[in-house]
Amino acid sequence: MEERILAMAEFIKLSPALPWIAEQGHAGLVTACAPDRLILESPLKSFSTRLTHITVSLQNDQNFHFKGRLETEVYPFHFIISPEERQTLQELLGQIRKDQHIEICRSQDVEAEGRYTGFQELSFLPEALPLFDHSEIDTSVDFLGQRFALPILITGMTGGIQKGMEINRRLALAAQKFGIPMGVGSQRIALDNAEYAPIFSVKDTAPNVFLIGNIGIAQLADKDALDRCRRAVDMIDANALAIHFNVVQEHIQVEGDRNLAGIMKNLEMICKTLNVPVIAKEVGSGISPSSAKMLAECGIAAIDIGGAGGTSWAHIEGLRSSSDIVSQLGLTFRNWGIPTAYSLVAVREALKDFPLIATGGIRDGLTAAKACALGAQFAGIGLPLLKAALQNEEAVEQAIEGFERGLRLTMLASGAKTLADLKSKIVRGRPYQSTFERLIPSHH
Ligand SMILES: Cc1cc2nc3c(=O)[nH]c(=O)nc-3n(C[C@H](O)[C@H](O)[C@H](O)COP(=O)(O)O)c2cc1C
Repeated sequence: MEERILAMAEFIKLSPALPWIAEQGHAGLVTACAPDRLILESPLKSFSTRLTHITVSLQNDQNFHFKGRLETEVYPFHFIISPEERQTLQELLGQIRKDQHIEICRSQDVEAEGRYTGFQELSFLPEALPLFDHSEIDTSVDFLGQRFALPILITGMTGGIQKGMEINRRLALAAQKFGIPMGVGSQRIALDNAEYAPIFSVKDTAPNVFLIGNIGIAQLADKDALDRCRRAVDMIDANALAIHFNVVQEHIQVEGDRNLAGIMKNLEMICKTLNVPVIAKEVGSGISPSSAKMLAECGIAAIDIGGAGGTSWAHIEGLRSSSDIVSQLGLTFRNWGIPTAYSLVAVREALKDFPLIATGGIRDGLTAAKACALGAQFAGIGLPLLKAALQNEEAVEQAIEGFERGLRLTMLASGAKTLADLKSKIVRGRPYQSTFERLIPSHH
């Protein structure tokens, strides 16, 4: 009884449902999955035979064969997967999860409520006089030993099984065209099953792109952590490897990884041994100054502070789940985390000359300029570029061009010839607000 209640809290609803067929010929739909079972609907409300083998087909005609036990006394039926086949179920769940994430991001509001990043508190001081020509503006930035044309970075996003390859190809072409770095999403599925490696291998399409691999911190718990990192790098000929942290998501997500014991030691060993720089990356909760210092001591080469205010993974997991508990957790933690600008300022103070990327809710070139003014080498962009990549190549180029135009205009209109010049042009509140408040008394 208790086990069933626990399981009820952990179902992922499937929309569309997946077709299943049993070896005896019965067929129906899988409407939900849990880490140990599938929920089966069938036109037949009872079975005389106990099913032991079923085949479930994923949308793109991939078939998964399961051995298990059918509980026939409840309808819809519970098909309990045998322990030896849980790995297959994990793989099916992983694939469904990625495609669901994409669909939810495309069609629903997945951002923190009110999208508060902290950048809203800041303004640049406008300069009316044309102090230089717009052609003199220099937007270039140095990062991990290379020079890039713009301080914009395409942050790592999984594109799912069905659309992943095309999404990554479109993003990579744009990254190469604009001379900016690009991250891929978590390579875990391809590390577990080499068949999926082509989803991430974009260097055939864009050989010159600075490519950042991606793996979750939970993946570093095992003894083969270094091997996994090396394989992730080799798989895509990566120039750097991002290790992402997402405690909140992993604990809300039904199939989350929760084993984080002993990980910091492994992280240090990997930073020392891997042949490319390692980037520590949050995905929406922000990095605290103390965590940043620990990461720097571990040998991390750069930090993506991944602050709150943009895409909210707690919220996405809540939207994806059919359980009231998980949906409620998703809502409760929708705005969890350090707003991007706050985390950036705090980490910059803790680590004076450390390479930083600011991701989380940056939606235009003016805000990207604010991130640079606060000391980030790059503004990382996620959701807007994912949505563009779901359309076509041109949409991605247009989106990045929009960021570039906004950034250049900010620099021109505030008299900042270089990104470094932006630092002296930013203020809290509105331009000259403090002068105004000082000179005009609020009461007599
Ligand atoms: C569909 C989608 C998939 C993502 N997958 C990953 C991932 O696999 N690994 C990772 O480190 N971050 C992932 N992210 C997080 C982004 O890199 C980024 O931190 C987050 O979306 C915040 O930026 P934004 O507000 O501009 O979207 C993903 C984001 C989206 C929208």
